Amino acid sequence: MLKVLNHPLITHKLTQMRKKETCTKDFRENLDEIAELMAYEVCRDLPVEPIEIETPMAKCTGYQLSKEVVIVPILRAGIGLLDGIRRLVPTAKVGFIGLYRDEETLEPHEYFAKFPKDLEHSVVMIVDPMLATGGSALAAIQMIKKRGAKNIKLVCLVGAPEGAEAVQKEYPDVDIYLAAMDEKLNDIGYIVPGLGDAGDRIFGTK
Ligand code: PRP
Ligand code: URA
Repeated sequence: MLKVLNHPLITHKLTQMRKKETCTKDFRENLDEIAELMAYEVCRDLPVEPIEIETPMAKCTGYQLSKEVVIVPILRAGIGLLDGIRRLVPTAKVGFIGLYRDEETLEPHEYFAKFPKDLEHSVVMIVDPMLATGGSALAAIQMIKKRGAKNIKLVCLVGAPEGAEAVQKEYPDVDIYLAAMDEKLNDIGYIVPGLGDAGDRIFGTK
């Protein structure tokens, strides 16, 4: 499943992020707000279980989340989506995957991995603003699956058709959520029109 969240608020905030003159502070704040808006939609099908409760007026059946949610940002840029999602799912656990993309080969290289226990019975959200060639997402999904995860969602801000197709082909069971699907990749593997280098813009490193 590929879902592009065409929502006016998300599109407006993403447009602010895309502008080359947008400063680090505004870039980060808009990303944080979009993450929260996206989380609402990404969580739409989270499983719930009935629970008997008593209100001040009467006994009734309520519903509570029945599975752990684990958010896994791909370092560095994925960190920019973490807090916004956590505001909506404050009980979520957090894992980390460190990957960087070789600028020449565009291949992802792993440098860090740390996960909570029991990924097998959790809903795992891999989060990263950019889905370009899909190499990083594929590597992250492979790492998570190797640890037993069965219910995986990939949450990205901007996608390229090449990356989305690569993930759908290799892992049709992984649901992909995007704020926007862009036109293409350029010859150095950047998304066009995109927003440039997400990590550098979030952390002010260029
Ligand atoms: C960026 C981005 C993704 C990856 C996408 O990270 O945040 O992780 O590139 O490209 P792909 O789909 O072609 O793999 P980068 O490797 O630049 O690392 P950073 O987050 O540390 O800046
Ligand atoms: N990584 C980014 O940060 N931006 C792109 O456009 C592609 C990969």
